[in-house]
Amino acid sequence: MKHLLSINDLSRDAAIDLLNLAVEMQQVNTRDIKKLPALTGRTVANLFFEDSTRTRISFELAARRLSADVINFSAKGSSVSKGESLKDTVQTLEAMGVEALIVRHNHSGAVNTIANSDWSKAVVINAGDGTHEHPTQALLDALTIRQRVSGIEHNGDLTGLKVLIVGDILHSRVARSNLLLLRKLGAKVAVSAPSTLVPATIARYCDEVYFDLDEALSQKFDVVMMLRIQSERMNSAFMPNSSEYSFGWGLGDTRFSKLNQNTLIMHPGPMNRGLEISSKAADSKQSAILDQVTNGVAVRMAVLYKLLAQEKKND
Ligand code: CP
Repeated sequence: MKHLLSINDLSRDAAIDLLNLAVEMQQVNTRDIKKLPALTGRTVANLFFEDSTRTRISFELAARRLSADVINFSAKGSSVSKGESLKDTVQTLEAMGVEALIVRHNHSGAVNTIANSDWSKAVVINAGDGTHEHPTQALLDALTIRQRVSGIEHNGDLTGLKVLIVGDILHSRVARSNLLLLRKLGAKVAVSAPSTLVPATIARYCDEVYFDLDEALSQKFDVVMMLRIQSERMNSAFMPNSSEYSFGWGLGDTRFSKLNQNTLIMHPGPMNRGLEISSKAADSKQSAILDQVTNGVAVRMAVLYKLLAQEKKND
């Protein structure tokens, strides 16, 4: 594996290996000196054409913990605003010797364009491209589920687990990557959303679809993953208004109080509190939202280690 563009780049065993490596990285992250020398002298660039808090910072922290030099590029404030093309930006970084490009872009497939081009020899890691995929988010979610839901560690996979993904499936790269990865790891994954916010082909990618959230929640899932409403990607009215969305599709206080107390609540962030999730649910003991953020560093260390340190050894 040269790049990580999609969960489809990983076999089941490769995904489990990465999760196991992330567990080793978690141990590094609890030491007094949270540093490994693995990427000393190597240079990675965060190439972000779209806003981010969690992904950009955790990739930076992950690279620094592996002793790499890190360049942070964001389109805002760069020569992109003067009309510089994606090709010229990538070639500029290549000319400076960057060996890994961690790319977030608002266009689905932009990461594939870079990886399939002759603009750079760098490893390309997808940090979220349009409505397509966000593979490291799915890996950190799988690690969080593995560690927070008891009784599923036997094969390192998620066999027998039931996960419900709720909300704006249509625009969600997180949902797409999670559907691919969680099912690859043996989980049964259902989605629940208004019909306007699911792709027409959804039945191919999940085990069940519920157009009524209360009916879905009555089925007792082990994990309920709420998604952010992605208003910035909506070019027409996908729901009547935010109050109706929250009433029909939000994990508000009433729905939260009816959940089984073992049900794990997840959200990739950033959250719209009061719209898709209430503060009571988000800040509860059942919530794994901050664990997801913590695990993002270890998972991204594992991905960088695998693609830059281990693959180099295998050359
Ligand atoms: N989950 C996620 O991708 O968050 P950011 O947009 O803050 O990176």
